Amino acid sequence: MEIKNICCIGAGYVGGPTMAVIAQKCPEIKVTVVDINEKRIAAWNDNDVENIPIYEPGLSDVVAEARGRNLFFSTDIDSAIEEAEMIFISVNTPTKTYGIGKGMAADLKYIELCARQIARVSKTDKIVVEKSTLPVRTAEALKNILDNTGNGVNYQILSNPEFLAEGTAVEDLIDPDRVLIGGDIDTTKGKEAVMALVDVYAHWVPNERILTTNVWSSELSKLTANAFLAQRVSSINAMSELCEKTGADVNEVARAVGMDSRIGSKFLKSSVGFGGSCFQKDILNLVYIAKSFGLYEVADYWEQVIIMNDHQKKRFAANIVKTLFNTVSGKKIAFLGWAFKKDTNDTRESAAIYVADYLLNEQAEIVIYDPKVKEEQIYADLDYLNSRTEEENRQRVRVVKDPYEAGKEAHAVAVLTEWDEFKTLDWKRIYDDMLKPAFLFDGRRLLERRTKEELGFEFYAIGS
Ligand code: NAD
Ligand code: UGA
Repeated sequence: MEIKNICCIGAGYVGGPTMAVIAQKCPEIKVTVVDINEKRIAAWNDNDVENIPIYEPGLSDVVAEARGRNLFFSTDIDSAIEEAEMIFISVNTPTKTYGIGKGMAADLKYIELCARQIARVSKTDKIVVEKSTLPVRTAEALKNILDNTGNGVNYQILSNPEFLAEGTAVEDLIDPDRVLIGGDIDTTKGKEAVMALVDVYAHWVPNERILTTNVWSSELSKLTANAFLAQRVSSINAMSELCEKTGADVNEVARAVGMDSRIGSKFLKSSVGFGGSCFQKDILNLVYIAKSFGLYEVADYWEQVIIMNDHQKKRFAANIVKTLFNTVSGKKIAFLGWAFKKDTNDTRESAAIYVADYLLNEQAEIVIYDPKVKEEQIYADLDYLNSRTEEENRQRVRVVKDPYEAGKEAHAVAVLTEWDEFKTLDWKRIYDDMLKPAFLFDGRRLLERRTKEELGFEFYAIGS
């Protein structure tokens, strides 16, 4: 089965970059990315490719190469569905904020809406690909909706979870560790559908890295991978607190431990806590699924990863208060970084939000500099918590375009995101402009202690 037209529903952090790379690597396939968000689609179509809505190193070049050739962004969802033989669903699957499973389960309403729209519009057979991260056995529900509300056409459901990390999305897509495709491999039609998707990836991914499994293994592998990655961060963060009490240094411990080839060195970087749209959401979802099967020990085991992460964010903030003589009321704290990691403008679940909220509750004034995050996003993140009025957030939090401006007359500077540019700032200038004693809190183990102490900073770093 040859694929000539692909439609992707959802032009977000996954849909946009993933489809841009597919279009770049498969010039003979027409790829149309659709979204209900008109503003987002307009930004993807902006004449100046630097204005696309997602910042990812290398992405604007890929978009520039393929857009208008075989890559299109549109709000005409029906036409794109109708035209395509293969439809990726790449919409958001956030944690439910209401009803049964509130705060734990994945909210599948956007997925269901897509399924109903596909069923309504389709007049020819379709391969529907789950690209969003979904609870295990969602494909069953999708198939049910498609078969029962459709026009009698045949649907094959595949699971093709995405493993890209933000900040390195293009690199991860072009050279993935593996591509995972789950399908109904026991039937001929199912096998054909799997092969059709394998053929798309085989344009650039070596065959031995394209893994095919049954649908349920594929769905569950995605949740498992994120849970394992987050667990490593929580494990090293748990050790960071012990390091601070014992004189050990978490970077040295991580290095020593990571050189054991059975453990490996990646994802052992201690931090102010993991953020991002997925780790917490996917683990909560895993916990919910385990509980729904009565597997309470399994649920508790994974929930601890989240509990540890919340503790890490809180203790970083509490340490700032304690160090600043037990009060930050009316004191100015400068934040360097707001994104949940470097090289992205994404702030979802960023540790910085929670640290700021804690300090604002202690009546601090906060000034924020982030090289890629817009002012309106920062206020939206704080408003979303509902901890205080929107007006108060704007009175007590200032967003600036210059890191030196942030540091001016601050009582403390806190590094919340590991942007490379923070390493080479003129730290003497920052020190000179600050109130004394000048406190510097490194939540990312980004800065060198010795040079900062030599300048006169009172320096605190996670895990040492
Ligand atoms: P996102 O919020 O950036 O994008 C989702 C898009 O879907 C939005 O633009 C939204 O307007 C659109 N949408 C929602 N309902 C729609 C509908 N009915 N019709 C058309 N468009 C609709 O989300 P994201 O970060 O791209 O994540 C998408 C999925 O991929 C999630 O399940 C997530 O868990 C998973 N995932 C994300 C990442 C990541 O790095 N962000 C990595 C791997 C997997
Ligand atoms: C993560 C996974 O790495 C991807 O494989 C997955 O596709 C994605 O989630 C998803 O499903 O959304 P992402 O959240 O974009 O990707 O970024 P990561 O590099 O995993 O970082 C997540 C958080 O953990 C960040 O806040 C980061 O700063 C933190 N982290 C990461 C650490 O604190 N220490 C580390 O050693 C690694």
